[in-house]
Amino acid sequence: MNEVTLSQAVSPPVDSSGVVITVRHLQKSFGDHVVLRDFNFTLQAEENLAVLGKSGSGKSVLIKCIVGLIPPDAGEIQVLGKNVPYLEHEELDILRRDLGFLFQWGALYDSMTVRENLIFPLRKHSDKTKQQIAQKVEEVLESVGLPEAVDLMPSELSGGMKKRIALARTLMLEPKIIFYDEPTTGLDPVTAKEISELIREVQQQHQTAAIVITHDMECVKITADRVILLSDGINYAEGTYETLRRSNDPTVKAFFGNND
Ligand SMILES: Nc1ncnc2c1ncn2[C@@H]1O[C@H](COP(=O)(O)OP(=O)(O)OP(=O)(O)O)[C@@H](O)[C@H]1O
Ligand SMILES: [Mg+2]
Repeated sequence: MNEVTLSQAVSPPVDSSGVVITVRHLQKSFGDHVVLRDFNFTLQAEENLAVLGKSGSGKSVLIKCIVGLIPPDAGEIQVLGKNVPYLEHEELDILRRDLGFLFQWGALYDSMTVRENLIFPLRKHSDKTKQQIAQKVEEVLESVGLPEAVDLMPSELSGGMKKRIALARTLMLEPKIIFYDEPTTGLDPVTAKEISELIREVQQQHQTAAIVITHDMECVKITADRVILLSDGINYAEGTYETLRRSNDPTVKAFFGNND
């Protein structure tokens, strides 16, 4: 490995402008079904970005392209300075250590205690000692407000608690960017609000950036520094919650309704 390559490998993952994700002219179709037509955005370090869009508009496809789970047809995807579509499997694995996921389909392992679930992601790549890992478990459970749950089984947890533990598991690897796909779906309004507030707290405590995909406007209001509406395969509208809420555009209004 020559010096240039080495210095690139260890260079700070945030570029000088503080951008952690750049997506340009992203296109993705399945057969003749165009899902993403020309999607563009950047994500700043420590920024929470909410992505709104109708069911089937391509929000999950967008995230899967960004994290290298599905290849785009065209366009540029840079994550923490890496050119995602061109990464080898191993390089993707390394990049993903800096990414946290709280996905729609993410679940805890039912046969493991909370502690075992939390330690599980560290099995492959961690230079931490047993004691450091035990400390980390305590710290992340504290972060999500559930220190007493450490020896419980998932079956003993409510839906909201499961989400908290799933988020704690994500925090074990100290991600720089967290992807939340519908974090409040299936929760009652009170628990949903608590999870949204937790997403905000995590951003502040752990200085993470995040993409939050959601239909829950209260979640958008609480978690998002900026909002993008994905419609017709493009970033149709973009702004803060407040600016989009005041928009007169019918497509935007359809999401915000009478939301205050
Ligand atoms: N692997 C795939 N093969 C074929 N079509 C797919 C595939 N993945 C997604 N799609 C299609 O792409 C479109 C967008 O799907 P996506 O899951 O991104 O929607 P979404 O915006 O996340 O919706 P929801 O809010 O319901 O989760 C859908 O029409 C879906 O059927
Ligand atoms: Mg989805």
